[in-house]
Amino acid sequence: TIYANAMYAHGRPVVTTDPRRLEEQARQAMNARAFNYIAGGAGEKATMDSNRLAFRQWKLIPRMLKASEVDASIELFGQKYPHPLLMAPIGVQALAHPNKEVGLAASCSEVEVPYILSTASGSSFEDVAASSGSGKRWFQLYWPSDNEITLSLLKRAKENGFEALVVTLDTWTLAWRPADLDTGYLPFLAGLGTEFGSTDPIFREKYEKKTGMKVDENIEEASRDWLQKIFGTNHTWEDVEFLRKNWDGPLILKGIQHVEDAKSALKYGCDGIVVSNHGGKLQLERQPLLSMLEPLLKVRYVGRQLDGAIGSLEVLPEIVDAVGKDMTVLFDSGIRTGSDVVKALALGAKAVLVGRPVMYGYAINGGEGAKAVLQGLLADFHLSMSVAGIPSVKDLSREVIRKINYGG
Ligand code: FNR
Repeated sequence: TIYANAMYAHGRPVVTTDPRRLEEQARQAMNARAFNYIAGGAGEKATMDSNRLAFRQWKLIPRMLKASEVDASIELFGQKYPHPLLMAPIGVQALAHPNKEVGLAASCSEVEVPYILSTASGSSFEDVAASSGSGKRWFQLYWPSDNEITLSLLKRAKENGFEALVVTLDTWTLAWRPADLDTGYLPFLAGLGTEFGSTDPIFREKYEKKTGMKVDENIEEASRDWLQKIFGTNHTWEDVEFLRKNWDGPLILKGIQHVEDAKSALKYGCDGIVVSNHGGKLQLERQPLLSMLEPLLKVRYVGRQLDGAIGSLEVLPEIVDAVGKDMTVLFDSGIRTGSDVVKALALGAKAVLVGRPVMYGYAINGGEGAKAVLQGLLADFHLSMSVAGIPSVKDLSREVIRKINYGG
Protein backbone atom coordinates (compact mmCIF):
# COMPACT_ATOMS: atom_id res chain seq x y z
CA THR A 1 0.00 0.00 0.00
CA ILE A 2 2.70 2.53 0.82
CA TYR A 3 4.10 2.05 -2.62
CA ALA A 4 0.74 2.31 -4.30
CA ASN A 5 -0.13 5.47 -2.36
CA ALA A 6 3.05 7.17 -3.35
CA MET A 7 2.97 6.09 -6.95
CA TYR A 8 -0.55 7.18 -7.74
CA ALA A 9 -1.87 10.72 -7.82
CA HIS A 10 -5.57 11.31 -8.53
CA GLY A 11 -6.03 7.66 -9.46
CA ARG A 12 -3.39 7.69 -12.17
CA PRO A 13 0.23 6.56 -12.01
CA VAL A 14 2.67 9.47 -11.60
CA VAL A 15 4.86 7.86 -14.24
CA THR A 16 4.22 4.73 -16.26
CA THR A 17 4.66 1.58 -14.20
CA ASP A 18 5.99 -0.24 -17.27
CA PRO A 19 9.81 -0.05 -17.33
CA ARG A 20 9.76 -0.57 -21.12
CA ARG A 21 7.64 2.56 -21.66
CA LEU A 22 9.52 4.82 -19.28
CA GLU A 23 12.17 5.89 -21.76
CA GLU A 24 9.57 6.85 -24.35
CA GLN A 25 7.60 8.84 -21.80
CA ALA A 26 10.79 10.69 -20.87
CA ARG A 27 11.61 11.38 -24.51
CA GLN A 28 8.28 13.14 -24.86
CA ALA A 29 8.82 15.16 -21.70
CA MET A 30 12.34 16.39 -22.46
CA ASN A 31 14.16 18.48 -24.99
CA ALA A 32 15.99 16.30 -27.50
CA ARG A 33 19.54 17.18 -26.50
CA ALA A 34 19.00 16.55 -22.81
CA PHE A 35 17.21 13.27 -23.57
CA ASN A 36 19.99 12.12 -25.88
CA TYR A 37 22.61 12.88 -23.27
CA ILE A 38 20.85 10.76 -20.66
CA ALA A 39 19.57 7.94 -22.85
CA GLY A 40 22.62 7.69 -25.08
CA GLY A 41 25.29 5.04 -25.07
CA ALA A 42 28.64 4.63 -26.74
CA GLY A 43 28.88 3.81 -30.43
CA GLU A 44 26.14 1.48 -31.63
CA LYS A 45 24.86 1.00 -28.07
CA ALA A 46 26.00 -2.64 -28.24
CA THR A 47 27.10 -2.51 -24.61
CA MET A 48 23.73 -1.22 -23.50
CA ASP A 49 22.11 -4.12 -25.37
CA SER A 50 24.52 -6.56 -23.73
CA ASN A 51 23.64 -5.21 -20.32
CA ARG A 52 20.00 -6.13 -20.87
CA LEU A 53 20.72 -9.41 -22.66
CA ALA A 54 22.87 -10.52 -19.75
CA PHE A 55 19.83 -10.24 -17.47
CA ARG A 56 17.59 -12.14 -19.85
CA GLN A 57 19.91 -15.13 -19.92
CA TRP A 58 19.51 -15.72 -16.20
CA LYS A 59 16.22 -17.24 -15.07
CA LEU A 60 14.79 -17.52 -11.57
CA ILE A 61 13.42 -20.82 -10.29
CA PRO A 62 10.50 -20.03 -7.96
CA ARG A 63 9.65 -21.98 -4.81
CA MET A 64 6.13 -22.33 -3.36
CA LEU A 65 4.66 -21.81 0.11
CA LYS A 66 7.84 -20.10 1.29
CA ALA A 67 7.52 -16.32 1.56
CA SER A 68 4.69 -13.89 2.08
CA GLU A 69 6.53 -11.13 3.92
CA VAL A 70 9.95 -10.17 2.60
CA ASP A 71 12.83 -8.77 4.62
CA ALA A 72 14.66 -6.56 2.13
CA SER A 73 17.10 -5.03 4.60
CA ILE A 74 20.84 -5.33 4.13
CA GLU A 75 24.04 -4.32 5.83
CA LEU A 76 26.77 -2.41 4.02
CA PHE A 77 30.03 -1.41 5.67
CA GLY A 78 28.58 -2.07 9.12
CA GLN A 79 25.43 0.00 8.58
CA LYS A 80 21.85 -1.14 8.10
CA TYR A 81 19.94 -0.13 4.97
CA PRO A 82 16.22 -0.87 4.42
CA HIS A 83 16.63 -1.92 0.77
CA PRO A 84 19.44 -3.17 -1.45
CA LEU A 85 19.01 -0.22 -3.84
CA LEU A 86 21.05 2.98 -4.24
CA MET A 87 20.75 5.96 -6.56
CA ALA A 88 23.66 5.79 -9.02
CA PRO A 89 25.81 8.89 -9.32
CA ILE A 90 24.53 10.78 -12.35
CA GLY A 91 26.05 14.04 -13.51
CA VAL A 92 24.16 17.14 -14.57
CA GLN A 93 20.78 16.32 -13.10
CA ALA A 94 19.59 19.77 -14.17
CA LEU A 95 19.07 18.16 -17.58
CA ALA A 96 16.14 16.24 -16.13
CA HIS A 97 14.68 18.87 -13.80
CA PRO A 98 15.49 22.45 -12.72
CA ASN A 99 15.61 21.35 -9.06
CA LYS A 100 18.73 19.42 -10.10
CA GLU A 101 20.73 17.47 -7.49
CA VAL A 102 19.17 19.07 -4.42
CA GLY A 103 15.71 18.01 -5.63
CA LEU A 104 16.63 14.43 -6.41
CA ALA A 105 18.60 14.01 -3.18
CA ALA A 106 15.48 15.07 -1.24
CA SER A 107 13.32 12.56 -3.13
CA CYS A 108 15.78 9.74 -2.50
CA SER A 109 15.85 10.61 1.18
CA GLU A 110 12.04 10.41 1.35
CA VAL A 111 12.06 6.83 0.05
CA GLU A 112 15.17 5.83 2.02
CA VAL A 113 17.31 5.24 -1.02
CA PRO A 114 20.91 6.39 -0.46
CA TYR A 115 21.91 9.22 -2.79
CA ILE A 116 25.34 9.16 -4.44
CA LEU A 117 26.33 12.70 -5.40
CA SER A 118 28.38 13.02 -8.61
CA THR A 119 31.38 15.34 -8.95
CA ALA A 120 29.68 16.55 -12.16
CA SER A 121 26.96 18.18 -10.11
CA GLY A 122 25.20 21.51 -10.34
CA SER A 123 24.58 21.63 -6.58
CA SER A 124 27.15 21.95 -3.83
CA PHE A 125 27.91 19.47 -1.03
CA GLU A 126 26.35 21.84 1.44
CA ASP A 127 23.06 22.26 -0.45
CA VAL A 128 22.71 18.52 -1.12
CA ALA A 129 23.43 17.73 2.52
CA ALA A 130 20.73 20.22 3.58
CA SER A 131 18.13 18.82 1.19
CA SER A 132 18.79 15.16 1.95
CA GLY A 133 18.65 15.82 5.70
CA SER A 134 18.85 12.55 7.61
CA GLY A 135 18.96 10.58 4.32
CA LYS A 136 22.04 8.48 3.66
CA ARG A 137 24.45 10.01 1.18
CA TRP A 138 27.69 8.98 -0.46
CA PHE A 139 30.03 10.97 -2.69
CA GLN A 140 31.27 9.92 -6.13
CA LEU A 141 34.67 11.33 -7.03
CA TYR A 142 35.90 12.16 -10.48
CA TRP A 143 39.46 12.08 -9.33
CA PRO A 144 41.18 15.44 -9.91
CA SER A 145 44.73 15.71 -11.15
CA ASP A 146 45.51 18.14 -8.32
CA ASN A 147 45.88 16.43 -4.93
CA GLU A 148 45.07 19.59 -2.97
CA ILE A 149 41.73 19.86 -4.75
CA THR A 150 41.07 16.17 -4.14
CA LEU A 151 41.78 16.70 -0.43
CA SER A 152 39.44 19.67 -0.33
CA LEU A 153 36.62 17.60 -1.85
CA LEU A 154 37.21 14.71 0.57
CA LYS A 155 37.21 17.08 3.53
CA ARG A 156 33.97 18.75 2.48
CA ALA A 157 32.33 15.40 1.72
CA LYS A 158 33.18 14.23 5.24
CA GLU A 159 32.06 17.48 6.92
CA ASN A 160 28.74 17.29 5.10
CA GLY A 161 27.89 13.73 6.11
CA PHE A 162 28.75 11.85 2.89
CA GLU A 163 29.59 8.48 4.40
CA ALA A 164 31.28 6.54 1.63
CA LEU A 165 33.58 7.55 -1.21
CA VAL A 166 32.92 6.07 -4.66
CA VAL A 167 35.81 6.68 -7.04
CA THR A 168 34.84 6.28 -10.69
CA LEU A 169 37.68 4.85 -12.75
CA ASP A 170 36.03 4.22 -16.11
CA THR A 171 35.49 7.83 -17.08
CA TRP A 172 38.94 9.32 -16.78
CA THR A 173 38.08 10.68 -20.18
CA LEU A 174 34.82 10.99 -22.12
CA ALA A 175 33.66 8.61 -24.94
CA TRP A 176 32.41 8.50 -28.51
CA ARG A 177 28.75 9.27 -28.13
CA PRO A 178 27.05 9.77 -31.47
CA ALA A 179 23.91 11.21 -29.93
CA ASP A 180 25.88 14.06 -28.39
CA LEU A 181 28.35 14.49 -31.23
CA ASP A 182 25.66 14.80 -33.90
CA THR A 183 23.98 17.58 -31.99
CA GLY A 184 27.31 19.14 -30.98
CA TYR A 185 26.05 19.09 -27.44
CA LEU A 186 27.76 18.62 -24.14
CA PRO A 187 26.03 19.95 -21.02
CA PHE A 188 29.37 21.11 -19.65
CA LEU A 189 29.72 23.51 -22.56
CA ALA A 190 26.45 25.08 -21.52
CA GLY A 191 27.90 25.57 -18.04
CA LEU A 192 25.88 22.72 -16.54
CA GLY A 193 27.42 20.27 -14.10
CA THR A 194 30.44 22.41 -13.36
CA GLU A 195 28.89 24.62 -10.67
CA PHE A 196 30.07 22.12 -8.08
CA GLY A 197 33.69 22.86 -8.92
CA SER A 198 33.33 26.60 -8.76
CA THR A 199 32.11 26.34 -5.16
CA ASP A 200 35.28 24.62 -3.97
CA PRO A 201 37.41 27.04 -1.92
CA ILE A 202 40.76 25.49 -2.89
CA PHE A 203 39.84 25.43 -6.58
CA ARG A 204 38.74 29.08 -6.34
CA GLU A 205 41.89 30.15 -4.57
CA LYS A 206 44.14 28.41 -7.10
CA TYR A 207 42.21 29.65 -10.10
CA GLU A 208 42.21 33.23 -8.89
CA LYS A 209 45.92 33.13 -8.12
CA LYS A 210 46.77 31.60 -11.49
CA THR A 211 44.66 33.90 -13.65
CA GLY A 212 44.39 37.02 -11.52
CA MET A 213 40.63 36.88 -12.16
CA LYS A 214 37.65 36.16 -9.95
CA VAL A 215 35.86 32.83 -10.54
CA ASP A 216 32.44 34.46 -10.27
CA GLU A 217 33.26 37.07 -12.90
CA ASN A 218 34.74 34.55 -15.25
CA ILE A 219 32.55 31.52 -14.73
CA GLU A 220 32.76 30.04 -18.23
CA GLU A 221 36.54 29.94 -18.32
CA ALA A 222 36.71 28.74 -14.71
CA SER A 223 34.31 25.88 -15.57
CA ARG A 224 36.63 24.72 -18.31
CA ASP A 225 39.56 24.88 -15.97
CA TRP A 226 37.60 22.70 -13.53
CA LEU A 227 36.76 20.17 -16.26
CA GLN A 228 40.43 19.87 -17.14
CA LYS A 229 41.12 19.09 -13.54
CA ILE A 230 38.58 16.29 -13.16
CA PHE A 231 38.75 14.60 -16.59
CA GLY A 232 41.73 13.62 -18.69
CA THR A 233 43.81 12.46 -15.75
CA ASN A 234 45.39 9.05 -15.87
CA HIS A 235 45.98 7.86 -12.34
CA THR A 236 47.71 4.60 -11.44
CA TRP A 237 46.90 1.84 -8.96
CA GLU A 238 49.61 3.18 -6.66
CA ASP A 239 47.71 6.48 -6.49
CA VAL A 240 44.85 4.62 -4.80
CA GLU A 241 47.07 4.58 -1.70
CA PHE A 242 46.75 8.36 -1.54
CA LEU A 243 42.95 8.10 -1.39
CA ARG A 244 43.13 5.30 1.17
CA LYS A 245 45.40 7.38 3.38
CA ASN A 246 43.19 10.43 3.15
CA TRP A 247 39.67 9.01 3.33
CA ASP A 248 38.50 7.76 6.67
CA GLY A 249 35.46 5.71 5.65
CA PRO A 250 34.38 3.12 3.10
CA LEU A 251 36.39 3.46 -0.12
CA ILE A 252 34.73 1.98 -3.22
CA LEU A 253 36.07 1.80 -6.78
CA LYS A 254 33.44 2.06 -9.52
CA GLY A 255 33.75 0.74 -13.06
CA ILE A 256 35.37 -2.64 -12.36
CA GLN A 257 34.82 -5.32 -15.04
CA HIS A 258 37.89 -7.53 -14.67
CA VAL A 259 38.81 -9.98 -11.92
CA GLU A 260 42.38 -8.70 -11.78
CA ASP A 261 41.19 -5.13 -11.23
CA ALA A 262 38.90 -6.33 -8.46
CA LYS A 263 41.90 -8.01 -6.83
CA SER A 264 43.93 -4.82 -7.18
CA ALA A 265 41.16 -2.87 -5.45
CA LEU A 266 41.45 -5.30 -2.57
CA LYS A 267 45.24 -5.14 -2.55
CA TYR A 268 45.21 -1.35 -2.33
CA GLY A 269 42.93 -1.37 0.68
CA CYS A 270 39.52 -0.61 -0.83
CA ASP A 271 36.40 -1.72 1.03
CA GLY A 272 34.25 -2.28 -2.03
CA ILE A 273 33.81 -2.10 -5.78
CA VAL A 274 30.96 -1.35 -8.14
CA VAL A 275 30.89 -3.82 -11.02
CA SER A 276 29.71 -1.40 -13.69
CA ASN A 277 30.24 -0.39 -17.30
CA HIS A 278 28.75 3.06 -16.77
CA GLY A 279 25.43 1.87 -18.16
CA GLY A 280 27.11 1.16 -21.50
CA LYS A 281 28.80 4.49 -21.62
CA LEU A 282 32.43 3.51 -21.38
CA GLN A 283 35.07 3.85 -24.03
CA LEU A 284 38.74 3.31 -23.53
CA GLU A 285 40.24 4.04 -26.91
CA ARG A 286 41.31 7.51 -27.90
CA GLN A 287 39.16 8.77 -30.74
CA PRO A 288 41.05 11.22 -32.95
CA LEU A 289 37.91 12.78 -34.38
CA LEU A 290 36.94 13.98 -30.98
CA SER A 291 39.87 16.32 -31.12
CA MET A 292 37.36 18.55 -32.93
CA LEU A 293 35.92 19.22 -29.53
CA GLU A 294 39.20 19.74 -27.74
CA PRO A 295 39.54 23.42 -28.51
CA LEU A 296 36.09 23.91 -27.05
CA LEU A 297 36.69 21.93 -23.94
CA LYS A 298 40.40 22.21 -23.49
CA VAL A 299 40.33 18.75 -21.99
CA ARG A 300 41.39 15.45 -23.45
CA TYR A 301 37.94 14.51 -24.61
CA VAL A 302 37.76 10.91 -25.69
CA GLY A 303 34.82 8.87 -24.69
CA ARG A 304 32.23 7.90 -22.14
CA GLN A 305 31.71 4.24 -22.88
CA LEU A 306 33.22 1.26 -24.53
CA ASP A 307 30.93 0.11 -27.28
CA GLY A 308 31.13 -3.65 -27.59
CA ALA A 309 32.02 -4.14 -23.92
CA ILE A 310 30.75 -7.18 -22.10
CA GLY A 311 27.39 -6.95 -20.31
CA SER A 312 28.11 -5.92 -16.74
CA LEU A 313 26.14 -8.84 -15.23
CA GLU A 314 28.24 -11.33 -17.23
CA VAL A 315 31.35 -10.55 -15.19
CA LEU A 316 29.64 -10.29 -11.81
CA PRO A 317 29.87 -14.01 -10.79
CA GLU A 318 33.60 -14.34 -11.49
CA ILE A 319 34.37 -11.11 -9.65
CA VAL A 320 32.26 -12.21 -6.67
CA ASP A 321 34.10 -15.55 -6.66
CA ALA A 322 37.46 -13.76 -6.65
CA VAL A 323 36.90 -11.04 -4.01
CA GLY A 324 33.35 -11.36 -2.64
CA LYS A 325 34.47 -12.84 0.67
CA ASP A 326 36.89 -10.01 1.37
CA MET A 327 35.12 -6.93 0.09
CA THR A 328 31.67 -5.56 -0.72
CA VAL A 329 30.67 -6.05 -4.34
CA LEU A 330 27.99 -3.69 -5.64
CA PHE A 331 26.51 -3.79 -9.13
CA ASP A 332 25.03 -1.49 -11.76
CA SER A 333 24.31 -1.15 -15.48
CA GLY A 334 20.98 -2.26 -16.84
CA ILE A 335 18.84 -2.71 -13.72
CA ARG A 336 15.25 -2.06 -14.82
CA THR A 337 12.95 -4.43 -12.90
CA GLY A 338 12.54 -6.03 -9.51
CA SER A 339 13.63 -9.39 -10.85
CA ASP A 340 16.83 -7.78 -12.20
CA VAL A 341 17.63 -6.78 -8.62
CA VAL A 342 16.91 -10.34 -7.43
CA LYS A 343 19.22 -11.76 -10.10
CA ALA A 344 22.14 -9.42 -9.34
CA LEU A 345 21.87 -10.17 -5.62
CA ALA A 346 21.56 -13.92 -6.27
CA LEU A 347 24.80 -13.70 -8.24
CA GLY A 348 26.51 -12.14 -5.24
CA ALA A 349 26.08 -8.34 -5.37
CA LYS A 350 25.34 -6.88 -1.93
CA ALA A 351 23.26 -4.05 -3.41
CA VAL A 352 22.57 -2.46 -6.79
CA LEU A 353 22.62 1.06 -8.20
CA VAL A 354 20.05 2.33 -10.67
CA GLY A 355 20.65 5.26 -13.01
CA ARG A 356 18.67 6.22 -16.09
CA PRO A 357 15.17 5.12 -15.03
CA VAL A 358 15.22 7.52 -12.08
CA MET A 359 16.37 10.34 -14.32
CA TYR A 360 13.45 9.56 -16.62
CA GLY A 361 11.01 9.72 -13.72
CA TYR A 362 12.57 13.00 -12.58
CA ALA A 363 12.15 14.45 -16.07
CA ILE A 364 8.56 13.25 -16.47
CA ASN A 365 7.18 14.38 -13.13
CA GLY A 366 9.89 16.01 -11.01
CA GLY A 367 10.63 14.74 -7.50
CA GLU A 368 7.34 12.80 -7.41
CA GLY A 369 8.25 11.09 -10.68
CA ALA A 370 11.69 10.10 -9.40
CA LYS A 371 10.15 8.75 -6.20
CA ALA A 372 7.54 6.81 -8.17
CA VAL A 373 10.26 5.10 -10.22
CA LEU A 374 12.24 4.16 -7.11
CA GLN A 375 9.18 3.01 -5.20
CA GLY A 376 7.92 1.09 -8.20
CA LEU A 377 11.24 -0.71 -8.50
CA LEU A 378 11.25 -1.47 -4.78
CA ALA A 379 7.67 -2.74 -4.87
CA ASP A 380 8.47 -4.90 -7.89
CA PHE A 381 11.53 -6.22 -6.03
CA HIS A 382 9.48 -7.13 -2.94
CA LEU A 383 6.86 -8.86 -5.09
CA SER A 384 9.46 -10.73 -7.12
CA MET A 385 11.13 -12.02 -3.95
CA SER A 386 7.77 -13.00 -2.54
CA VAL A 387 6.47 -14.89 -5.57
CA ALA A 388 9.86 -16.54 -6.04
CA GLY A 389 9.52 -17.79 -2.46
CA ILE A 390 12.59 -16.00 -1.10
CA PRO A 391 11.87 -14.59 2.38
CA SER A 392 14.91 -12.36 2.77
CA VAL A 393 17.95 -10.99 0.99
CA LYS A 394 20.05 -13.32 3.14
CA ASP A 395 18.34 -16.28 1.46
CA LEU A 396 19.49 -15.28 -2.01
CA SER A 397 22.12 -17.49 -3.59
CA ARG A 398 22.93 -19.04 -6.93
CA GLU A 399 20.52 -21.84 -6.07
CA VAL A 400 17.58 -19.63 -7.04
CA ILE A 401 18.91 -18.86 -10.49
CA ARG A 402 20.08 -20.68 -13.63
CA LYS A 403 21.75 -19.54 -16.83
CA ILE A 404 19.89 -20.60 -19.95
CA ASN A 405 21.30 -20.32 -23.44
CA TYR A 406 18.49 -20.45 -25.96
CA GLY A 407 20.92 -19.67 -28.76
CA GLY A 408 20.49 -16.83 -31.25
C1 FNR B 1 26.16 8.36 -15.65
N1 FNR B 1 27.03 7.65 -14.83
C2 FNR B 1 27.89 8.36 -13.99
N2 FNR B 1 28.73 7.68 -13.16
C3 FNR B 1 29.54 8.35 -12.32
O1 FNR B 1 30.28 7.72 -11.57
N3 FNR B 1 29.53 9.72 -12.30
C4 FNR B 1 28.74 10.47 -13.10
O2 FNR B 1 28.75 11.69 -13.04
C5 FNR B 1 27.89 9.77 -14.00
N4 FNR B 1 27.08 10.45 -14.85
C6 FNR B 1 26.20 9.77 -15.65
C7 FNR B 1 25.33 10.49 -16.45
C8 FNR B 1 24.39 9.82 -17.23
C9 FNR B 1 23.44 10.62 -18.05
C10 FNR B 1 24.33 8.41 -17.21
C11 FNR B 1 23.30 7.65 -18.00
C12 FNR B 1 25.22 7.69 -16.43
C13 FNR B 1 26.95 6.19 -14.72
C14 FNR B 1 25.97 5.77 -13.65
O3 FNR B 1 26.48 6.02 -12.36
C15 FNR B 1 25.64 4.27 -13.68
O4 FNR B 1 26.83 3.53 -13.75
C16 FNR B 1 24.73 3.89 -14.86
O5 FNR B 1 23.80 4.89 -15.13
C17 FNR B 1 24.04 2.61 -14.49
O6 FNR B 1 23.37 2.12 -15.58
P1 FNR B 1 21.77 2.32 -15.82
O7 FNR B 1 21.06 2.03 -14.51
O8 FNR B 1 21.62 3.73 -16.27
O9 FNR B 1 21.53 1.32 -16.87
